[in-house]
Amino acid sequence: MKIILLGPPGAGKGTQAELISNKLNIPHISTGDILREAISNKTPLGDQAKKIMDQGNLVSDEVILGIIKERLSEKDCKGGFLFDGFPRTIGQADGLKNLNIDINLVLEIKISDEIIITRMSGRRIHQASGRSYHIKYNPPRIEGKDDVTGEDLIQRNDDKPETVLARLEVYKKQTDPLIDYYLDIQKKTDLKFVKVNGANSPKEVSEEIFRSFEKI
Ligand code: AP5
Ligand code: MG
Repeated sequence: MKIILLGPPGAGKGTQAELISNKLNIPHISTGDILREAISNKTPLGDQAKKIMDQGNLVSDEVILGIIKERLSEKDCKGGFLFDGFPRTIGQADGLKNLNIDINLVLEIKISDEIIITRMSGRRIHQASGRSYHIKYNPPRIEGKDDVTGEDLIQRNDDKPETVLARLEVYKKQTDPLIDYYLDIQKKTDLKFVKVNGANSPKEVSEEIFRSFEKI
């Protein structure tokens, strides 16, 4: 299975990606997680990306496509993969198409702007794995600690309300057009496009997603 998860910031892509990746046993490839790891390791990529991400803007297509090509060359991607936060522009989607990879399923998680704002302010993440929690809706077993490693949870730099608004604008301008892009490909190929309601609980959303696998 080769899957793309589409949806605005805070839609629950990372939350659902972890569940899907465990269920289908395919790697979860989040360009956001890869960039945050580069920032915490202070690599040249991280230094370049930090300012852009803190402002809520997008890293260049060229850099992102370079990251993706390198990641896909790893052995664990042979049996399929799940993209979370990629592609995010028409340029990235064209770049992916040029790699001759046939995507089976595009899942769009739909959600309103109001819900996004409340989710972002309560989000906490485990930096090393990218696991995402919410202080109210999806709390860790021990406050402030990752369920798997017991390490500290942190708040993301770009979850400040003003940056969240900037990210939402960027999504509407640059990523939303991908919905029509993939609906059009669906008409011509075996690719399936499925919308799910991201306003439901994480469990309900994942059940809706798992049901869509039966259509593939
Ligand atoms: P990225 O890390 O991809 O962020 P994003 O797309 O803005 O999405 P988020 O990670 O904020 O939200 P999510 O949908 O994963 O939600 P989550 O599951 O955490 O990108 C960050 C930045 O990196 C970009 O702004 C850009 O600068 C750069 N970048 C990355 N990829 C790029 C690319 N391809 N091209 C260019 N630049 C790129 O959930 C959110 C919160 O809600 C959590 O607290 C969670 O616990 C909670 N929650 C989840 N589901 C539910 C639910 N059903 N009910 C209640 N609460 C829920
Ligand atoms: Mg995420």
